Amino acid sequence: MTLSGLVKERRILVCVGSGGVGKTTTAASLGLAGARAGRRTLVLTIDPAKRLANALGLAHLGHEVQEIPRERLAEGGFVQPGGSLFAMMLDQKRAFDEIVERYAKDPAVRKRIFDNPIYRGASTTLAGSYEYAAMAKLYEIAEANRYDLIVLDTPPTANAIDFLDAPERMSSAIDSPAIDWFVRPYKEAGQFSLKALSIGTAFILKRIARFVGSAFLEDIARFFVEFNTVLGGFRERAKEVFEILRRPDVAFVMVSSPEPLAVDEALYFFERLHSAHMPLGAFVVNRVHPELPPAPSRENLIEKLTASPELRGFSPDEVVRVAADLDATYREFASLAEADAREIGRLRLAAVEDVSVIEVPLFDGDIYDMDGLSQMVRYLAG
Ligand SMILES: Nc1ncnc2c1ncn2[C@@H]1O[C@H](COP(=O)(O)OP(=O)(O)OP(=O)(O)O)[C@@H](O)[C@H]1O
Ligand SMILES: [Mg+2]
Repeated sequence: MTLSGLVKERRILVCVGSGGVGKTTTAASLGLAGARAGRRTLVLTIDPAKRLANALGLAHLGHEVQEIPRERLAEGGFVQPGGSLFAMMLDQKRAFDEIVERYAKDPAVRKRIFDNPIYRGASTTLAGSYEYAAMAKLYEIAEANRYDLIVLDTPPTANAIDFLDAPERMSSAIDSPAIDWFVRPYKEAGQFSLKALSIGTAFILKRIARFVGSAFLEDIARFFVEFNTVLGGFRERAKEVFEILRRPDVAFVMVSSPEPLAVDEALYFFERLHSAHMPLGAFVVNRVHPELPPAPSRENLIEKLTASPELRGFSPDEVVRVAADLDATYREFASLAEADAREIGRLRLAAVEDVSVIEVPLFDGDIYDMDGLSQMVRYLAG
């Protein structure tokens, strides 16, 4: 299916890709495309560049959903009746707190978790916690059923695949045998005091405490013991939440640059999705060097440069030098375009049946306003 088909028909589009490839820009553009196609659309964005957030009207609000004014949507593009665009920025900490709230039913336990300094650090730095928070939010919004289309941006990770591995990574960070070894003596003692610990591991813990302080150790122990009570819910939810990515009304949009390593990664991700029975919808190759028209001959170029007002006063030798520079730049660009085309060819070869490959050219500058997004929409879903 074409990407514009996906925008019109699917319920959830998930933009994935490695750091800085253009996920957030693509997500915002697909959101705009959805609204213009007449759908009530929400973009769940993650850490957008400030100017892009401004363009979406997200200057002040974060975790709350905000509607983008209709007049703004219409700038540079027709909006079909019924179309509207909402956006929110994920606040990782708050999203994580919401999950804890759901699973720690006892208000006293909840308060102790929130007050625990280790929790405050872990909720934003624990492996996979960002992805988990994003997925949990997606799940909640999808269940509430208020939008025709939800476009999910994903957190900046080194590798796209981190997104799929997030719940695993997080569970294993919390479940590690080392943590179990550390927490068990406290659990057996039934209180979070070093003094109460019996011999054995306590001996080592007491020595560690000399360096890091016993209060710190107690915070950690308390965190892991109390967090364990919500962890059951966490794991269950991770399964549930990632399960929605297998639904037929979901499509992944893999954003990639045309560089060989990025294409390798995109292909690997594609395989992983396939084996996880998750539907890839489209490859978006972003920042492609467009193919250039044939270069003018050297004589022709010199003739044009000599006539151009910018080079008035240049000696014939200088004009020849400028022509040589231009020619070299042109060739360099042409060889980049050629290399890009080769890499995109690899993606096309691998893209099966329903997966389309869409090219978005390298724009002159950043994409941060409705004009820029509208241009991007034309390439993505035009
Ligand atoms: N085709 C393009 N041409 C020129 N600039 C682009 C293009 N696509 C994206 N950009 C710019 O590149 C920058 C990074 O884009 P974006 O924030 O969408 O990447 P990202 O994948 O979300 O990054 P992160 O992994 O950090 O979240 C932005 O400044 C954006 O305006
Ligand atoms: Mg981003």
